[in-house]
Amino acid sequence: MAEYICVFNKDTLIIKPSKKSPLFLRTIVLLFAMVCGVYICTICMKQISVVTKMNVQVIGSPSPDTNIATQLEPQIPTLHYPKPETFSRGECTQNPVRFFVILSMQRSGSGWFETLLNSHTNISSNGEIFSAMERRKNISTIIQTLEKVYSLDWFTSASKNECSAAVGFKWMLNQGLIAHHEEIMEYFKHRGVSAIFLFRRNLLRRMVSVLANSYDRYAKLLNGTHKSHVHSHQEAAALSSYKPVINSTSLISDLKEVGLAAAKALEYFNSTRHIVLYYEDLVTNRTKLKDVQEFLGIPQMELTSRQVKIHKGPLSDFVKNWDDVNRTLSGTEYESFLGADY
Ligand SMILES: *[C@@H]1O[C@H](CO)[C@@H](O)[C@H](O)[C@H]1NC(C)=O
Ligand SMILES: *[C@@H]1O[C@H](CO)[C@@H](O)[C@H](O)[C@H]1NC(C)=O
Ligand SMILES: *[C@@H]1O[C@H](CO)[C@@H](O)[C@H](O)[C@H]1NC(C)=O
Ligand SMILES: *[C@@H]1O[C@H](CO)[C@@H](O)[C@H](O)[C@H]1NC(C)=O
Ligand SMILES: *[C@@H]1O[C@H](CO)[C@@H](O)[C@H](O)[C@H]1NC(C)=O
Ligand SMILES: *[C@@H]1O[C@H](CO)[C@@H](O)[C@H](O)[C@H]1NC(C)=O
Ligand SMILES: *[C@@H]1O[C@H](CO)[C@@H](O)[C@H](O)[C@H]1NC(C)=O
Repeated sequence: MAEYICVFNKDTLIIKPSKKSPLFLRTIVLLFAMVCGVYICTICMKQISVVTKMNVQVIGSPSPDTNIATQLEPQIPTLHYPKPETFSRGECTQNPVRFFVILSMQRSGSGWFETLLNSHTNISSNGEIFSAMERRKNISTIIQTLEKVYSLDWFTSASKNECSAAVGFKWMLNQGLIAHHEEIMEYFKHRGVSAIFLFRRNLLRRMVSVLANSYDRYAKLLNGTHKSHVHSHQEAAALSSYKPVINSTSLISDLKEVGLAAAKALEYFNSTRHIVLYYEDLVTNRTKLKDVQEFLGIPQMELTSRQVKIHKGPLSDFVKNWDDVNRTLSGTEYESFLGADY
């Protein structure tokens, strides 16, 4: 483009009859040549820098499979100084508070994850508050509920009140989150809420957990009480003694649907400050918990949980029609779910 302009300029100069001296004309041509040269040079430089930037991005960008797909904007979390109506923040009035939300799906380890977070002195994660229908009836009840949580006026066993430095709760995708995603996204951005996505890679294990849990809801294997999370190995054994049958006809499309729901949530909320975690990584890699604390901008602590995993060992032990399932998934993109440990 630059060259065309230069030639054009030269042409006009030459075509235009001029009575000026050849020396003057030559000087002008020389000047134009210089200006064009500089112009071309700057364009070249720009292109070179764009190319290098792209290389850096390619090298530095995590592969789509990496565990912690961090953030486009690694800015620090927004600080808040809430003034709760129901109590005084006492000695911690001057301490900033960060707002977060755990976006997850049922049976993806979010209950366990939340107990880990709540073992931190300064984290208050208030549970699945939108499991109650009336709180997610419409967007105004949702916002009202959110306001109450983030003003620290929401009370649960997890509330730390005075000295909470990070306050939040967990929100399942099917609890009005996707249905009202536009307004909720606006709210998150406006209020500076950071999102922690927590997904499970092995959707087949998740499915077994969902089926077993919904069965127990009715059968109540644990001495007549339903428990979705257990604290002893005996309880875990009792729950996992039930072997669900998986519908192999709809299995692939069911798995696909769950994967799509997660992708959709990521897409809808991708412009809020966020971190993506996978249950499997949390189980095997304790550094992830450090990442979370760093993301929340709170002092590092050792996080602990008393919860015991319900389905331990090979998945084939927990599914009645395992051969069916194995046959259905063998050779598909979901094959790895059959053998994985978590
Ligand atoms: C939302 O639900 C509440 C409670 O039922 C009701 O009072 C309010 O009018 C509803 N708001 C909208 C915008 O529908
Ligand atoms: C964390 O909580 C302790 C008391 O439980 C408090 O002394 C400390 O200031 C809090 N830290 C932050 C960063 O708010
Ligand atoms: C059920 O209750 C009995 C007696 O109280 C107890 O021994 C047993 O361990 C309980 N079973 C489970 C799975 O909690
Ligand atoms: C399994 O899924 C198929 C397809 O969705 C459905 O037609 C069938 O009724 C299901 N079978 C059982 C036992 O639920
Ligand atoms: C975020 O999602 C929007 C669609 O909702 C999409 O257009 C955009 O490319 C996404 N951005 C990133 C960085 O994924
Ligand atoms: C554990 O997580 C950290 C931080 O996300 C990561 O840098 C590291 O590579 C992980 N380690 C393994 C063995 O995956
Ligand atoms: C699935 O079936 C194949 C062929 O029968 C067998 O070799 C493989 O071990 C099975 N996989 C699992 C995880 O049971």
